[in-house]
Amino acid sequence: MELRIDNIDSIREAARQFVAATGENTVFAFYGKMGAGKTTFIKAVCEELGVEDVITSPTFAIVNEYRSDTTGELIYHFDFYRIKKIEEVYDMGYEDYFYSGALCFIEWPELIEELLPEEAVKVTIEENADGSRIVRF
Ligand SMILES: Nc1ncnc2c1ncn2[C@@H]1O[C@H](COP(=O)(O)OP(=O)(O)OP(=O)(O)O)[C@@H](O)[C@H]1O
Ligand SMILES: [Mg+2]
Repeated sequence: MELRIDNIDSIREAARQFVAATGENTVFAFYGKMGAGKTTFIKAVCEELGVEDVITSPTFAIVNEYRSDTTGELIYHFDFYRIKKIEEVYDMGYEDYFYSGALCFIEWPELIEELLPEEAVKVTIEENADGSRIVRF
């Protein structure tokens, strides 16, 4: 599936379509260059899922936890950009998250590729020259 986000004002509609297409999948790996729009899109998807907390990329921890105020479900948001050794990911207990059945949105999955569940959905975000974004999954 391919979603085009022409500008930031249409991101919610793209997020809505993304949510509608998630099905039974829970682990989503977001690939894309620095600044492509991974955090921004994940934030829009979380808002669409009813999360009311402020969503920013995990800076001090590898993972942030949010709760949907509409369904009560937990959502985990990972950013592996700053990890230095794969041991850090083992130590944080990544399996407890990835195999919990809760939604997991992952930035910089290429840094933990070998730990991604086989069924993880690969999502790519690309920025076009005109600033629009393409989300493919
Ligand atoms: N769909 C969009 N339309 C317009 N601007 C966007 C869009 N998505 C993101 N941006 C802008 O691009 C910048 C980078 O976005 P964001 O932080 O989401 O990127 P990222 O892929 O998470 O980067 P990083 O790899 O550093 O985590 C921000 O200033 C954001 O407002
Ligand atoms: Mg980010």
